[in-house]
Amino acid sequence: MDYLNIDKQKILPVVSELNVLLADYHVYYQKLRNFHWNILGKNFFELHNRFEEMYNETKTKIDEVAERIVTLKYHPISKLSDYIEISKIKESSPLLSDQEMVTELLNDHKILLEQFGLILEKAKKAKDEGTLDMMGAYIRELEKSSWMLNTWSKDTKEELNSSFVK
Ligand SMILES: [Fe+2]
Repeated sequence: MDYLNIDKQKILPVVSELNVLLADYHVYYQKLRNFHWNILGKNFFELHNRFEEMYNETKTKIDEVAERIVTLKYHPISKLSDYIEISKIKESSPLLSDQEMVTELLNDHKILLEQFGLILEKAKKAKDEGTLDMMGAYIRELEKSSWMLNTWSKDTKEELNSSFVK
């Protein structure tokens, strides 16, 4: 039964970019586990816990993206070797300082944002409202996560925009 009201020709580019996101998320997930286990130093408890929250959030998204692909009537890419090959996020050494780990993750967030942008572009062309809605939520959540990591990295002397402060 055709339960989708989407042009079949235009859906393939959306699925293709969703598969890249699925691969990105797998490498990003494993990197968060790597950092959760290997974090050392005075910020251990804080970041060890935060990285766990982040990988659990990512695990949920991995399932949602794969099932979006299935909903669009394609098989999601499922092999680790394929994820490594097509992911734009690259694996990382465990031998990083706490600050280096946070910087690495913030850089990965930029890669994820670019991938969301590509998916939005293809989904708009296909009038795929379901994927558009999903990406909107993912962008908002990633921006919030980036804000928190970036704030952790900041010196207290740095300030936000103070235009509205009296
Ligand atoms: Fe753990």
